[in-house]
Amino acid sequence: MSTAKLPPKAEQPVICVVGARPNYMKMAPIIRAFAAYRPALKTLLVHTGQHYDAAMNDRLFADLQLPRPDINLEVGSGSHAVQTAEVMKRFEPVIEQHGARAVLVVGDVNSTLACALVAAKRHIPVIHVEAGLRSGDRKMPEEINRIVTDQISDLLYTTERSAHANLQREGVAEERAVFVGNVMIDSLMASLPQAVAPAELLAAAGQNPERLAQGYGVVTLHRPSNVDSADTLVPIIGALREVAARLPLVFALHPRTRGNLERFGLLRELEAENFIILPPQGYLEMLGLMAGATLVLTDSGGIQEETTALGVPCLTIRENTERPITVEQGTNTLVGVAPEAIVTAARSVLESGGKRGRVPEYWDGHTAERIAAHLAAWLKTAEVEA
Ligand code: UD1
Repeated sequence: MSTAKLPPKAEQPVICVVGARPNYMKMAPIIRAFAAYRPALKTLLVHTGQHYDAAMNDRLFADLQLPRPDINLEVGSGSHAVQTAEVMKRFEPVIEQHGARAVLVVGDVNSTLACALVAAKRHIPVIHVEAGLRSGDRKMPEEINRIVTDQISDLLYTTERSAHANLQREGVAEERAVFVGNVMIDSLMASLPQAVAPAELLAAAGQNPERLAQGYGVVTLHRPSNVDSADTLVPIIGALREVAARLPLVFALHPRTRGNLERFGLLRELEAENFIILPPQGYLEMLGLMAGATLVLTDSGGIQEETTALGVPCLTIRENTERPITVEQGTNTLVGVAPEAIVTAARSVLESGGKRGRVPEYWDGHTAERIAAHLAAWLKTAEVEA
């Protein structure tokens, strides 16, 4: 379609992109905050379809009061190359048809990188929310997504001050990065009053709520490096079984993890032990579970931040984190993947109560408002200068 029919730049939408589960909690408050600037600032919400299961999508949209996407690109699963390429192919016509004042991407999933690339090549400003986080591990697909997205972004909103040093090291001009705080915590604070009580959740899942009465832990695992190979997954599950001997563990299974547990013949065993196996949970269910937990064991990025905001001890089953502030100030401990280390750290939490920490600067529930105010002014200036 010809771009000649498009309205003037200032009337074109800011295209906001989501693709996978961790994007939704970041985008919901942003869309709400942008609404206060209508009609001067219009948005178009695009879902790439990277995550498509009802369990990974619909419930979360409802829980977060995220409006239905204006457009769904329905890319589905595939190798990284296929998924990224498919998003790019399908996203470009959206820009052609609707125009874009800017493209706003969040986080570090394949959809984030794909849409940022398309926009940058069409000379459309790229806004990256949650910029500058680095694990230092380029074997993580998200790390590649972070590095490349930040390089081609025009405006980078950061969650912690350490991100600025990372960006500076990579040659990103200082004035492009703005410290605004953590937008995920906006969602957490807005939703905490509606969080579902864990006992209620268990009863609804047909399980005995009494199983949680003496305390419980929450487990999430989905990183390919942890769950795709039996050599890594089997010892991790072994460690979790030892922890479960002392504390019931609620395990909300990502589809990738469920598939691999089945493949390696581990799922049946877990079901017979002190685990409460659940499908991926809604946001309000997850919040309720985490808020009431004695301990959370995870390889997720977002959960490291959410547990810090909730003051709940978190053991991160990874060798590195791109969110160092959760370790330095919050409740997070990096325990690695060695089973003995996981068990020892869990025991220590059970004995001592674990880290309490404090909530980092600007993780205050108002980050999306800061982004909206800054972006509205920035766009005006950028368009005048253009
Ligand atoms: C993606 C993100 C990861 C994020 C995670 C949260 C990338 C590189 N990874 O990983 O950063 O932490 O989402 O969940 O973008 N599947 C389903 N239903 C779905 C989606 C996926 O069954 O709705 C299954 C498919 O078998 C698929 C596998 O899960 O092959 C992995 O999905 P994919 O989107 O490739 O990556 P995630 O592991 O979910």
